[in-house]
Amino acid sequence: MSILIKNGTVIDPKSGMEEKTDIYIENSIILKIGKNLNIKAAKIIDAEHKLVVPGLIDIHVHFREPGQEGKETILGGSIVAAKSGFTSVCTMANTTPPIDNQALVKFIKLEAEKGPINIYPVAAVTKGLNGEEISEMGELYAAGAVGFSDDGKPVTNALVMKRALEYAKMFNVPVIAHEEDPMLSDSGIMNQGEQSVLLGLRGIPSESEETMIARDVLLAKSTNGRLHVQHISTSGSVQIIREAKNKGTNVTVETCPHYFTLTDKSVSEHLSMAKMNPPLRTEKDRLAIIEGLRDGTIDVIATDHAPHQAQEKKQEIEYAPFGIVGLETAVPLVITVLVNENKFSYMDVFRKMTIRPAEIMGLNRGYIAENGPADITVIDPEKEIHVTEDFLISKCKNSPFIGMKLKGSVDFTICGGKIVYGN
Ligand code: DOR
Repeated sequence: MSILIKNGTVIDPKSGMEEKTDIYIENSIILKIGKNLNIKAAKIIDAEHKLVVPGLIDIHVHFREPGQEGKETILGGSIVAAKSGFTSVCTMANTTPPIDNQALVKFIKLEAEKGPINIYPVAAVTKGLNGEEISEMGELYAAGAVGFSDDGKPVTNALVMKRALEYAKMFNVPVIAHEEDPMLSDSGIMNQGEQSVLLGLRGIPSESEETMIARDVLLAKSTNGRLHVQHISTSGSVQIIREAKNKGTNVTVETCPHYFTLTDKSVSEHLSMAKMNPPLRTEKDRLAIIEGLRDGTIDVIATDHAPHQAQEKKQEIEYAPFGIVGLETAVPLVITVLVNENKFSYMDVFRKMTIRPAEIMGLNRGYIAENGPADITVIDPEKEIHVTEDFLISKCKNSPFIGMKLKGSVDFTICGGKIVYGN
């Protein structure tokens, strides 16, 4: 299949290119980039007034297979990702059973072949996510794991974390950390502060996240291992990472759209739909996250796409599971909140959704270049979308963004030279 994308504003954060030009794709690679290309193609995409960016990469999703297919499947999740502009995702290991052996890594890779996008499995740091016994990292890596994470749970045992950083270093892959001290979280439900007091709900203090980040930054320093910190939510976390980076520690970090968009004030309105872990924090934290994104402390925007079924989320907030779906709303929130409201450049935001996550996970993707992979996303930044249950094609509709009108819509997603989503 040949595709010609005409007159789009091509933004490639790897090379710094930002110009109106054409792209010609044949089979799975970009053959030619240039103005006014006059090449016959099976499909022509008119990208006038559109952004043409490298296929987006989300290094933090939960597709729930094996074991919780009622929430989502690998194939279903891939279709959601394609609609949302993502051509590559990294799936987390907290499935049932967890991804802690070679057979399960291979299973994910096999299932992924049925779907439209690239899926890279992250395997468990510890067997059964038990936090105590390190998984067979060498075998998991050989089977295709691109990193290690017990996400959903922290690795509370510091010695286990230290060893994990040492072992993962041998394969040059990151240990991807959900940072939380369960003792400090103390079965909390939302951010600890004024709002939790008003609502009478048990709170999760900022220190629960920050003390573990501080610990792991020190371990990353002493081992020189590769630490990637997931879904940071507090101003203190941004500051710890900023200082660690200034001292040259090998640490990278992500946040999610909900942490730069919402605060704990949303909990009274959206109840369990605004329940995720870490929780939504205060306005001061939200602004610090935005500053961390702006000054480059925060490397990556990932979604933590975490589907849960309606009957689970409809319980009292205390019993409902943590997590919201995030793929479909990622591009509209980034454009509305970061670009339109906070004046980020497209280059800056898409760097954090393309080449930076690719570099961290060791993927040869996330850029636009001749002879490079034909993974491309075409976005209409002016088009308004209305987040409704129908707009969300995920099996589960657990989103606090339902009802919002946002700017920025994915028009086309091209993965491996094929149109996997077209508006
Ligand atoms: O809110 C969350 N949901 N946070 C996590 O760390 C795990 C995730 C899930 O698996 O549902």
